[in-house]
Amino acid sequence: MKIAIAGTGYVGLVTGVVLAHLGHEIICMDIDADKIEKLKKGICPIFEPGLPELMAENASRLTFTTDYSAAYSDADAIFIAVGTPEKMDGSANLSYVFAVAGQIAESAKRDCIVVVKSTVPIGTNDKVEQYIKKHLKHDVNIEVVSNPEFLSQGTAVRDMLHGSRIVVGAESEEARKAMAEIYKGMNQPIVFTNRRSAEMIKYASNDFLALKISFINEIANLCEVLGADVEDVARGMGMDPRIGDKFLKAGIGYGGSCFPKDTKALHWLGNYHDHELKTIKAAIEVNENQKLRLIKKARKYYDTFEGLAIAVLGLTFKPGTDDLREAPSLTIVPILLDDGAIVKAYDPCGMERFKQKVNGSIMYCGTPEEALKDADICFILTEWPQITSLKPEVFLSMKRPIILDGRNCYKLEDMEGHDLVYESIGRRVIQKLKP
Ligand code: UDX
Repeated sequence: MKIAIAGTGYVGLVTGVVLAHLGHEIICMDIDADKIEKLKKGICPIFEPGLPELMAENASRLTFTTDYSAAYSDADAIFIAVGTPEKMDGSANLSYVFAVAGQIAESAKRDCIVVVKSTVPIGTNDKVEQYIKKHLKHDVNIEVVSNPEFLSQGTAVRDMLHGSRIVVGAESEEARKAMAEIYKGMNQPIVFTNRRSAEMIKYASNDFLALKISFINEIANLCEVLGADVEDVARGMGMDPRIGDKFLKAGIGYGGSCFPKDTKALHWLGNYHDHELKTIKAAIEVNENQKLRLIKKARKYYDTFEGLAIAVLGLTFKPGTDDLREAPSLTIVPILLDDGAIVKAYDPCGMERFKQKVNGSIMYCGTPEEALKDADICFILTEWPQITSLKPEVFLSMKRPIILDGRNCYKLEDMEGHDLVYESIGRRVIQKLKP
């Protein structure tokens, strides 16, 4: 099939490349001319493992353009995969989605389906369809289908190729058939439903996962007070298949482009319809506080951070990505800098982006060892393999080896027996530092 993709961000590009891999003819459209130039040269503009290789393998079925009318006039299906960023009030900004809808209305010269991949509030697909139909320039039939994505950054290619399900919200048999044809090569169950339920599946799934993380983080905080170990608690809980063992890793809170935005957007939507989602509200609140856990722990050792050299290991919101969106580092590092600390930061992928976002006394280090040398305290914010593989002895090069680990990177047994302080999340404190 001939498929156009609007937006070449994580979702759009991965979708385009995987659909090309399934044998479809793909044209990717973006208004960002620099990005399209790179893509035309075969350069993948985002950091996503496996994507450059799959892009090169399927280059003959992939074209890139900034010309929307060339992309949309002759497609069997047009996927909308543009951003829906958070507005000041927490609601989703739909201006990019409707801009594409307007371009489709202007350009479509044959019957086609418009597939909305962007995460949009429940009811948006109906509005997009009405909008396109109202503004159509040519006498064609279009139908909007909701097809939310469940991609995680860093594993997006694998997630799309081997996902647990494909969700399709369509209102006609023809649209359902077209979607089944698009995904024919995928060995995944398709959940067919109506558009509004598909939109809700996306929000409810993301918000449930965010809730699960906030829940285990609250339990972890209580474990610290009561002398229980959250890793064991999560393991014991996770063996019950009704609970499941995923997304029970305690830490310093969730970040990224989805959970923070999607929890706030659904909470906003609930309030708008006079149905406040109290569990989601709590998940958001817990997450905001959790980002400050390490600062609170650090205050036990230093009243002020003024003049301290603070090693910060990991800046991205999770390993395997260069993305900093809503990363705890963006909350924590400015607090340290504001207090007068000198931050020695290390991240294998996120330092360039961090430089553009945060100003102040930050030394960027090429290795964790360099960041740790002579530091007064260390904050671990992301569980990159380069960080989790460090031996406890490495921390002994610090001026005062006080390690605050926000991602539970090390086994307590491994840290014991060394002359250091090791505090993690929801586990007992190792306090072996000589005064
Ligand atoms: C998420 C969803 O997983 C994906 O299905 C959706 O399409 C987009 O949002 P992503 O944001 O890429 O994907 O990352 P994910 O791996 O889900 O992690 C999100 C955040 O939660 C990270 O900051 C991570 O550190 C945190 N997390 C995750 C935990 O703190 N504990 C866990 O057990 C799992």
